[in-house]
Amino acid sequence: MPGDMAFMEKLTSLCKRRGFIYQSSEIYGGIGGFWDYGPLGVELKRNIKEAWWHDMVTNPPIGPDGREVEMVGLDCAIIMNPRVWEASGHVAGFSDLMSSCRACKKLVRADQLGAMLEESEWYQSVAELCRRGPVGVAELRRWAETRGRKLAPNLGIVREPGLIPARLEGTTGSRQVHSVRELLEVLTGELDSKPGAGLPCPYCGGELTEPRPFNLMFRTTVGAVEDPANTAYLRPETAQGIFVNFKNVLDTTRVKVPFGIAQIGKAFRNEINPRNYTFRSREFEQMEIEFFCRPEQSMAWYEFWRKVRYEWYVGLGLKSEKLRLRDQTPQELAHYSRACADIEYLFPFSDEFQELEGVAHRGNFDLTQHAKASSKDLTYFDDEAWERDKDKFPPEQHKEVKNREPYRFLPTVIEPSAGVDRSALAFLCEAYCEDQAPDENGVMQPRVVLKLHPRLAPIKVAVFPLVKREGMPEVAEAIYRDVRRYLPAFYDEKGAIGRRYRRQDEAGTPYCVTVDGQTLVDGTVTIRDRDTLQQIRIDKAHVLSWLGEKLGK
Ligand code: GAP
Repeated sequence: MPGDMAFMEKLTSLCKRRGFIYQSSEIYGGIGGFWDYGPLGVELKRNIKEAWWHDMVTNPPIGPDGREVEMVGLDCAIIMNPRVWEASGHVAGFSDLMSSCRACKKLVRADQLGAMLEESEWYQSVAELCRRGPVGVAELRRWAETRGRKLAPNLGIVREPGLIPARLEGTTGSRQVHSVRELLEVLTGELDSKPGAGLPCPYCGGELTEPRPFNLMFRTTVGAVEDPANTAYLRPETAQGIFVNFKNVLDTTRVKVPFGIAQIGKAFRNEINPRNYTFRSREFEQMEIEFFCRPEQSMAWYEFWRKVRYEWYVGLGLKSEKLRLRDQTPQELAHYSRACADIEYLFPFSDEFQELEGVAHRGNFDLTQHAKASSKDLTYFDDEAWERDKDKFPPEQHKEVKNREPYRFLPTVIEPSAGVDRSALAFLCEAYCEDQAPDENGVMQPRVVLKLHPRLAPIKVAVFPLVKREGMPEVAEAIYRDVRRYLPAFYDEKGAIGRRYRRQDEAGTPYCVTVDGQTLVDGTVTIRDRDTLQQIRIDKAHVLSWLGEKLGK
């Protein structure tokens, strides 16, 4: 469903203008589904990843058992042995249903076809006719011979306008259509209830094929010989790298179940219709945790992660009314999963909530699959439990009992799986505001401001001399040199002070320090708060400690 596209245009323009996000390979016309992060964007993404790593890995909240949560990290190769993806089910099943246009050959995801059609230029143009009142043969024919020929050259009634009277009568029983729905039936001939069947191509109006599964993994060849035996895949998720290293981590660290392994890294999916800015990209980053626990404790850990992950977004500024936790229905759950919750955000590009992160109870499906496919033992042995209980069993039974549950078992996995790029987009959407701020003459002017949480803001403080003379730049530069050793800071002495403030507002910088005439007299500077616009004066020697306190450093 179309959301507030005007908002999205303003946001994308700000992101380009201020160096957050650029189209990938833009000077060559770009490439669909790939994005580059500019100087501010890369800092925003780093801050998101650092906040996640700090809050989930190095300093997670206390667990549901009242104990410290044990977490370790991992950084796996993007290309793995292709057998990983056979065992995980991605080779056989990681696909979307897709139709292709018989005329222009473009691909369309079957479940997105309806929405894409409604957004397409040709459909909107013809639907506009209906909004003005009933549409008759002459009007439809005129459209087909003019706008239709340009926008939807492969649509049936455009190729053969002579069909229009028969189509109208066949569909509506009259020579008029009264609604967009009726119009669509006229345009397509006949509507089928199957997604993707019967509807015309959103690009050119041509006939679409029946939907077919299309594997989303990018293929590549390892080594010099182009042979199917050398086919490998760019990983479509970071999770499998964690599962295949489960035994390594157990054998080389002192972790004990329950514990988690975390990974941040690139993932690649050959999405059929990448769309909505960076929301659905072909190359993106994930932040994933595989948390290994005892089966009987798994629901407590599931509830824990579900809550922790939701609150993480709220704590970093996503407002609760736009953020929701949606439990999947039993019909939506994978066969091995007992529960799954999606953390969803109401992005402005849609009227419907969209997935930001999934928190899934995965049972022991993944470890079972990899144990089977690799013929390696991936069970966990709980030596503490065995030491505690072994005297309860006669010695001749020890060998058998210690190698079965509850002492040896395959841990159950809870998987919170988040996207860095989707999080960045949600934080940007939430932060974008238009309000008013006074210019250098005190006259209120419209301003665009990114009210990013200070932890996420790419620049924490900007330092300005009010004017470029009277010794002010020297004092401001000294403050800047001092501050940048500890905080991402920016120095700017060019242009009117109001414009410098507005540049920083658009970059999301929470504080601006200004050296002015009074600084030269009493050594105080002003600090301006991005959100309240209030300015306070403090001694220049206290700037760093003041910022440290405000930013929690
Ligand atoms: N290991 C589980 C897994 O990968 P997923 O729901 O397919 O689950 C997890 O992906 C998260 O990765 C999503 O919630 C989303 O934030 C992000 N993600 C998935 N596909 C994406 C895409 N095409 N573009 C950007 N982010 C994506």
